[in-house]
Amino acid sequence: MSDLPQVIADLARWYALMGLGLGERTGLNDALLSGIGTAEELARRAGVDADNARLWAELMVVSGYATVAEGTGGDSNSPAQFEADDSTLGILRRTLPFDLRAALEIAVPLAGLMPRIERAVRDGGGIASDELQAALGPIPERVNVPTYDKYLLADWIPAHPEVEAALQAGADVVEIGPGGGGALRLLAAAFPASRFLGYDLDPLQVTEANAATQAAGLGNLRFEARDAALLPDASADIVAIFDAFHHFTDPDGALAGLRRALRPGGCLLMAEPALTGDPVVDAEDTFATITYGASLFYCFQESKTPGRPGMGSTWGGGHLLGFLEDGGFRVVRAYVSDGGYDVVQAVPTGD
Ligand SMILES: C[S@@+](CC[C@H](N)C(=O)[O-])C[C@H]1O[C@@H](n2cnc3c(N)ncnc32)[C@H](O)[C@@H]1O
Repeated sequence: MSDLPQVIADLARWYALMGLGLGERTGLNDALLSGIGTAEELARRAGVDADNARLWAELMVVSGYATVAEGTGGDSNSPAQFEADDSTLGILRRTLPFDLRAALEIAVPLAGLMPRIERAVRDGGGIASDELQAALGPIPERVNVPTYDKYLLADWIPAHPEVEAALQAGADVVEIGPGGGGALRLLAAAFPASRFLGYDLDPLQVTEANAATQAAGLGNLRFEARDAALLPDASADIVAIFDAFHHFTDPDGALAGLRRALRPGGCLLMAEPALTGDPVVDAEDTFATITYGASLFYCFQESKTPGRPGMGSTWGGGHLLGFLEDGGFRVVRAYVSDGGYDVVQAVPTGD
């Protein structure tokens, strides 16, 4: 496979990826990971059609994710016994700093969205949040959950001691674009003296985030459906925006709104992907192809509107600090986390 010209190798791996995505959505990945089995057995475990399970398992074999047990197959008396290749598929059993299984699962609806993305590429009109949400569902919000579990309390907050002290003393915290709300649930549990409010455009995610918060018994956190530009004045000591700013259609309006929302002495804490925005430099980053692809297919399209430039996940490295300064903020600290994010603390100028 490695001897193939890159384009052909990419084409081959696209089919392998779609196999993994289908395996994630149908339960076939889990069926294969749960132990050696014939196509019939895999189908029974996943609750899918046996002929399709056989074709899927064969795709897994040729793409390097499974093997056929020696002495099986090639004869109807001894059907092939498929076994997950632990050195490749085994990664799905591990806890990583991001949710790989969610990322694989998104690949399938994202592929279905390609004709719509093609139209957006032609007309430059972007794709509205609710259209993306309808196509992709809540899966994208799962991708970052392990990132927050690993880095938020252990790394991002301690890197900004003023923020940590304010959270401990008791602060009103607003997060804009919290999605499923995982980051705020961690903060609300860790800092019981503070009060937390998440504002997201998407009412469905707000409902789910409130349900998960209630289930976690967190009385100091709730979510509301609201646009970033429409925050109540002087309502927050800390405004957080984690991996969301580059999705906003009106970054200037959002920044002006959150400036008004901050009380005197308050601050903004923002995490954006730690890429430079220069593709020549970023090509060195192992995850650059994923991040640049996710930006073109998803983040950029959500932020793009007709006649306006849009942002996307590669925007921050080249623009964020200057954008904050032009918008009336002074950058207190820009900390690059191991988790692949720039975590920036900024205060309104004049404070
Ligand atoms: C990529 S998701 C990030 C969610 C979460 N912070 C995370 O890391 O998992 C971006 C979120 O921003 C929300 N969003 C986009 N534009 C917004 C706006 N103008 N006001 C509030 N939320 C917005 C979207 O609905 C989405 O939930």
